[in-house]
Amino acid sequence: MRSAKDFFRPLAVGAPEPLREIPVKPSRMIHFFPPSVEKVVAKVPDIAPGVDIILGNLEDGVPASDKERARAGLIQVGTTVDFGATQFWTRLNSLDSPWFLDDVTAAVTEIGDAIDVVMIPKVEGAEDIHYVDRLLAQLEARAGLDEPILVHAILETARGVANVEEICAASPRMQGLSLGPADLAANRRMKTTRVGGGHPGYLVRSDPADGGAITDERPTFQQDLWHYTIARMVDACVANGILPFYGPFGDIADTVACEDQFRNAYLLGCVGAWSLHPAQIDIAKRVFSPDPAEVAHAKRVIEAMGDGTGAIMLDGKMEDDASVKQCQVVVSLARHLAERDPELATAYGF
Ligand code: GLV
Ligand code: MG
Repeated sequence: MRSAKDFFRPLAVGAPEPLREIPVKPSRMIHFFPPSVEKVVAKVPDIAPGVDIILGNLEDGVPASDKERARAGLIQVGTTVDFGATQFWTRLNSLDSPWFLDDVTAAVTEIGDAIDVVMIPKVEGAEDIHYVDRLLAQLEARAGLDEPILVHAILETARGVANVEEICAASPRMQGLSLGPADLAANRRMKTTRVGGGHPGYLVRSDPADGGAITDERPTFQQDLWHYTIARMVDACVANGILPFYGPFGDIADTVACEDQFRNAYLLGCVGAWSLHPAQIDIAKRVFSPDPAEVAHAKRVIEAMGDGTGAIMLDGKMEDDASVKQCQVVVSLARHLAERDPELATAYGF
């Protein structure tokens, strides 16, 4: 076991010092683009300022025949685009793939100063993070980087979910987790072919009326397939000071159900979700920015609570030390987002 004292020492001579806190930046959407497609690469400078995080995807979705082209496109983006306040991430191929080693070597040694976070798919346990941690340190030292590159893991295997706490705690590089509902469904042998979202077959049915017949006409209520995993992921992340995200929603045309899925994740504690299409950028921006009416209410409670202790009645509702903390969560997120977005600052009255 590593000593706690060693945790913040670089894992390679010449590598930058590990961070003690994850930098908290607006992270409402991780917008995916395929760096193998020249037309898309040309649009990155226009897309980047409108999103919180832009991610060059090297993994699933990029055909095996295009993996090298995607890596070259990523390097081109990393060396030519000015990202301003937007974070630049990449999703590397998985650790068991033939591409990972070349992906990580190229990303760190050629554009490591531009990359904030590497997303690692199909993480199964702390051992995967330990491997990436040491390798990144070696490559950072070789590249002479001043800032450590952070790691974001995708939770998309049953073993990963079972080990989620140890994954979050495995390295000071851990920035956050995303739920990967497609791979996770396949790995668990869940019988859904959808990428995220609900399923009409996963439901509960209301009881028959007193003495009533057993019919299939009684109302049913669709349930959330992802509730358990998202809630578990949020607890593991928060307990380790890192950030939870919902992942992909594959039905691009169903903007309404996408918004519902994102909102469930937001209400449960996630800071953002993936956007796979420009239509999902605005959904994420809307959902993961607190509602101005909620912010106004939270500001009223905080003001009415004075030093934040005791209990008061406001509009017929009890507020106390705990509810004022709930309100502070909403107001501090609003303030943080308003710093980057003048329209939000006006909507929130800051
Ligand atoms: C994402 O990578 C997923 O598998 O859902
Ligand atoms: Mg996946």
